[in-house]
Amino acid sequence: MNFSGYMLQKSIRPFLICGDSFDVLRKFPSNCIDMVITSPPYWGKREYDNGGIGLEETSESFINNLLLVIYEIKRVLKQDGSFWLNIGDTYKNKSLVGIPWRIALKMIDEQGWILRNEIIWNKIKGGMDNSNDKLGNVHEPLFHFVKNSKYYYDTDAIRSKPQKTIIKNGAVVSATGVSGVRYKRQIELSTALSSIEKQNAIKALNDILCEVKEGTICDFRMIIRGQQRTTHSDSIKVSGRAKELKEKGFYFLKYHPNGSKPRDVWDILPEDSQNRCSHFAPFPEDLCKIPILATCPKDGIVLDPFVGTGTSLAVAYLFGRKSIGIDISEDYINNAYQRFYEPSLFEAVNV
Ligand SMILES: C[S@@+](CC[C@H](N)C(=O)[O-])C[C@H]1O[C@@H](n2cnc3c(N)ncnc32)[C@H](O)[C@@H]1O
Repeated sequence: MNFSGYMLQKSIRPFLICGDSFDVLRKFPSNCIDMVITSPPYWGKREYDNGGIGLEETSESFINNLLLVIYEIKRVLKQDGSFWLNIGDTYKNKSLVGIPWRIALKMIDEQGWILRNEIIWNKIKGGMDNSNDKLGNVHEPLFHFVKNSKYYYDTDAIRSKPQKTIIKNGAVVSATGVSGVRYKRQIELSTALSSIEKQNAIKALNDILCEVKEGTICDFRMIIRGQQRTTHSDSIKVSGRAKELKEKGFYFLKYHPNGSKPRDVWDILPEDSQNRCSHFAPFPEDLCKIPILATCPKDGIVLDPFVGTGTSLAVAYLFGRKSIGIDISEDYINNAYQRFYEPSLFEAVNV
């Protein structure tokens, strides 16, 4: 079976291809993949069989080889597609090489990618580190790149569960119990607000409490001049909120009724269930969930060109998306295959 054969199939079971990802991708049509998520081998840390990327003598040739594959990724990605790249750093002569950012900057400068986020994956527990002159490392970056400034992104699919307003002593209060009584008192007793500003603040507070009652927002915070500590700049030139405080004496932070958006630091334990003995760096499923839900449409297709144990495809399958995985190692492809198909049916394509 080839790419078009798989696309014609109704089944969403992942399609696995054994081969060098550069060679395999060169045979794919342009603009056919909705999102790519991958973790290539890290330079100088290769523990895999069958050669491939990561064994280069110098970091420069490693980066150049990877950029060749990334160039093909950009070609096969649809115009509104996303590319999520997880790659860790390496020490050389006692110094961090800066591999992730060297790659990211070359992607931006030489290939025209747009970098939307750098997510810090906090692995919570690190590997063994016996050095006595530096801190232990527990994080890796996950970059979110896009091809164009307009791209597919479903924020609602990744929001946390919205909190509900509650009834307290017969009155509707916000999800975290904000009734407005304290804010009212702070406004009335304020020495930093003029009397007209106080009137306006009380009216705005009553309006927002109505919004809570009606369910158009589930929660809010009020920032009143001279009362709450702010986290933004005090300069009205750089902060719209500082300007509001100066001009009106207050502003609101409204919580989205559909729940809040994830932030860019993710606490996720490394995977240790998927064949840890035969593969050394499988993705944890949670690392793939937000990227797939947010940037692959329901009828879209996910690609992982360094698929290893097939975790990214397993998450795509779980969320009902088609997916394609490529790996140079027949053993890993075989392993991944057994996750989705009966072992006796093994017929992964060898390119
Ligand atoms: C860090 S692992 C990926 C792990 C994967 N994310 C998982 O969840 O198991 C990198 C994979 O890239 C594969 N690989 C290395 N060079 C390759 C190449 N040139 N083409 C395709 N796969 C390659 C290795 O065999 C290895 O399985």
